[in-house]
Amino acid sequence: MPNFTASAPGKIILFGEHAVVYGQPAIAVPVTQVQARATVAPGIGLPQGEIQISAPEIALDSPLHALPLDHAIKQAVDLTLTALGIQRPTAFKLKITSSIPLAAGLGSGAAVSVAIARAVSAFFGRPLADEQVNAIAYEIEKIHHGTPSGIDNTVITYAQPVYFIKGQPIEAFEIGIPFTIVIGDTGIASPTSIAVGDVRRAWEQDSTSYDALFAACGEIARNARTAIEQGEIGALGPWMNENHAVLQKMGVSSPELDRLVEAARAAGAAGAKLSGGGRGGNMIALAREVDPDRIANALLDAGARNVVVTQVGNKQ
Ligand code: PMV
Repeated sequence: MPNFTASAPGKIILFGEHAVVYGQPAIAVPVTQVQARATVAPGIGLPQGEIQISAPEIALDSPLHALPLDHAIKQAVDLTLTALGIQRPTAFKLKITSSIPLAAGLGSGAAVSVAIARAVSAFFGRPLADEQVNAIAYEIEKIHHGTPSGIDNTVITYAQPVYFIKGQPIEAFEIGIPFTIVIGDTGIASPTSIAVGDVRRAWEQDSTSYDALFAACGEIARNARTAIEQGEIGALGPWMNENHAVLQKMGVSSPELDRLVEAARAAGAAGAKLSGGGRGGNMIALAREVDPDRIANALLDAGARNVVVTQVGNKQ
C-alpha cells in the first residue's frame, strides 16, 4: 500500500464566538497559511496490527494502544476505524505535523482530527465523505471542549467561509470582495474549554445579561454577513470593534488581547477584536486602506508572539 497524506487548514472566527454556543450565528473562515498534516504509511517492521503514532512537535512517538483513552489522536484513529467498520486493521504508521499554534484559537485540534480521518480512511481505500469527517472531528471536540458549537470542525472540514448556526446545516456564503485580516497571537495558550466553561457559569448566574450579550453578538454576525456578501468591507471594522466590546463584557478578553487590539487600531486597522475562545490566543484586525505589514509590525511591537496575514475570499 502506498503512503497517504491529508492536510487541513487552521481557522479564525470573524464574528460570533461564544454566542454561537448558545444558538447565535457566527462567521468563520479557513486560514490556509497554517496546516495540520497526517501521513499514513504501511507498518513495515511493526508487530502485526500495531499502529505507531508519531507527532514530533509534541514529542510523541508511541504505539496507539499505549496512549491514554482520552488522547485526541487515539480518538481520531479509533473513531475513523469504527466509521470504516475495521476492527483489526493491518499495521500502519501515522505521522502528524502541524504549523497551527496549539490552544491559540486557530483550530489546531480540529484540523489534526480532520487530517487523521482523511489520511487513515484513504489509506484503507475508502476515503470518508466530508459529513463523516466532520462528525468525527465534532465527537473529539465534544470530548475535549465540553459543549462546543461545532464551528471549528465545520469550517476546517469544508475549508471555506461558513455562516454557522449550531445544529443547522452548513451555510457557505459569498465573499463580495476579498479582504485582508492580520492575526496576532498573544502567545498565551488558553484552552477554549476553560473560557467556555467560565462563560457558562456566568450565564447560569445571570442569564438575562448574558442572553442580551449573546443576542448582540448574533445581531453583529448577521449584519457582518450582509456586509461581507455585498462587499461593504468598510462596515466590517466597526462591527469588529463592537463585537470585541461585547466579548470584553462577557469576560473573555485579557489585558494582552486588549493591548494588541488597541495597537492594531492605532496602526490604522479598520477594526479589531479577539478571535476564538479568548483570554489568550489570537486577535484579528481588518487591514483596509492600510498596509497589512504596518499592522503586523505594530502587533509585534506590542508583544505579539506571531502574526499571520491572510486573505479572506471564497477560494483561498
Ligand atoms: O477554538 P477557538 O478558541 O477558536 O474557539 C471556539 C469558539 C467558541 O465559540 C469560543 C467555542 C465554540 O465551541 O464555538
